[in-house]
Formats: sequence, structure tokens, C-alpha cells
Amino acid sequence: MVELDGSQEAGQDVLSAAEKTRALRFVFKQHQQRYIQAHSTLRQLLGELLGAAPGTLRIAEGVHGKPYLVDWPQCHFNLTHSASMALVGVSMEAEIGVDLEQLRPVDDLPALCATSFTINEQKALCEVTAEGVDDMFLRGWTRKEACLKAMGKGLLIAPNTFEAGFWHDAVVHITDAAATHAVTLHSVDAGPGWLAACAQLH
Ligand SMILES: CC(C)(COP(=O)(O)OP(=O)(O)OC[C@H]1O[C@@H](n2cnc3c(N)ncnc32)[C@H](O)[C@@H]1OP(=O)(O)O)[C@@H](O)C(=O)NCCC(=O)NCCS
Repeated sequence: MVELDGSQEAGQDVLSAAEKTRALRFVFKQHQQRYIQAHSTLRQLLGELLGAAPGTLRIAEGVHGKPYLVDWPQCHFNLTHSASMALVGVSMEAEIGVDLEQLRPVDDLPALCATSFTINEQKALCEVTAEGVDDMFLRGWTRKEACLKAMGKGLLIAPNTFEAGFWHDAVVHITDAAATHAVTLHSVDAGPGWLAACAQLH
């Protein structure tokens, strides 16, 4: 987990020209600072791991926008941010996806449940007390999004077309236009007030 609002240790000097341009597009200074902090910390983490200077890492985007390291194809990473926190996942084995959400009241829960969850998952959500439903929704949501980010297609695949559950480590099967993919999924303990998940493509 990376705190984005506190220390400004990581500076924008390690960012690429494209990242600096993107940072400048944020209307609010706080969002710009968070973007800079998240991406410079990501570069520092990857640089330490790979023994490379953070500013020299070439990061490009796949067809659906998933970032990857041009010169280190064996090193897979994924970034997620929510409010003032970010989470980075790294794998030297396979494509990885992470998602982090701050616990908050979720608007329009019934409609979102229908578009996000399978019938089985919707039934499980209906059994939760009113006090626990936002936590459960976001818990399930982070699991869906981590899977879809591991695959690199994000929400181009409808999250209600596969079962990811809410609690247990699982192997999840997701079918897209090309094939059925298997993904290993874990919920991540991100501390009180945060929900997070991590998924790795087989
Ligand atoms: C990936 C996606 C689910 C991100 O959702 P989100 O809740 O806004 O954001 P998160 O904080 O969890 O993750 C954002 C990070 O995921 C990474 N990311 C971007 N696209 C990604 C993808 N297709 N797969 C995996 N990770 C992706 C980036 O590092 C991004 O960080 P950045 O915006 O600071 O560069 C969403 O953008 C999506 O569905 N994208 C794919 C389809 C699409 O619309 N593509 C358009 C570009 S071609």
C-alpha cells in the first residue's frame, strides 16, 4: 500500500514525458499530486526490484490500456488507486491484476449489483445486513476488477458473467470472445476501511 497524500519523497523527475503530460491534465492539484506520487513510487519499486534506475524504465500500454515494461517482459505489475491510497502488485510469473477500494456508501446498490454480480452472488448480497452491505459489495467488486485487470481487458468484460465470490481464495474462470481463462484470486487485507484483491492469470 502506498500513501499518496503524505510524504512527497517521490518526485516527478523519474516520470516519463507522457506521465508528466498526463499529470498536468488533472484539474485539481490534489489529483495531480496523487498521480505523481503513485507513478513515481511505482517506478521506484520496479527499479529496486529490477536493479534499474526508475527513470529509465520504459512503460508502454497494451491494446486495452494495461501498462507493461517494454524491456522486462517477465516482470508483470499492476497499479490501483482509491482516494489517498494506492496498491501495487508485482509478479515474475504471470499477468497480475490488483484493485483497491475505500470503504464508502455505494450509491444505487440494486442496479450496480445486477450489472456487477451473478445471480448467486446477488443472492449472497441480499442476505447481508444493511450495515454490512457496502463492505460486502466492495469486497466482491475488488475481486471482479482484480480478475479483469489481470486479463488486461478491464470492464470490457461484463463482471456479472463470471463468479468471483466474496471471501475465499479461488480459481476463477472467465470467458471472453477468444477463450476461457483461469485466474487465481485472493482478497488482500488492506487494513480497516479498505478492500482489496489480487489476481494472477494462469
Ligand atoms: C482498467 C480499469 C478497470 C481501471 O479501473 P479504475 O477503477 O478506474 O482504476 P484502478 O485504480 O483500479 O486502476 C487504474 C490503473 O490500472 C492500470 N490499467 C489501465 N488500464 C488497464 C487495463 N486494461 N488492465 C489492467 N490495468 C490497467 C493503470 O496503471 C491505471 O493507473 P493510471 O490510471 O494511474 O495509469 C478500467 O480503466 C478499464 O476497464 N479499462 C479497460 C477498457 C478500456 O476502457 N480501455 C480504454 C483504453 S484503450
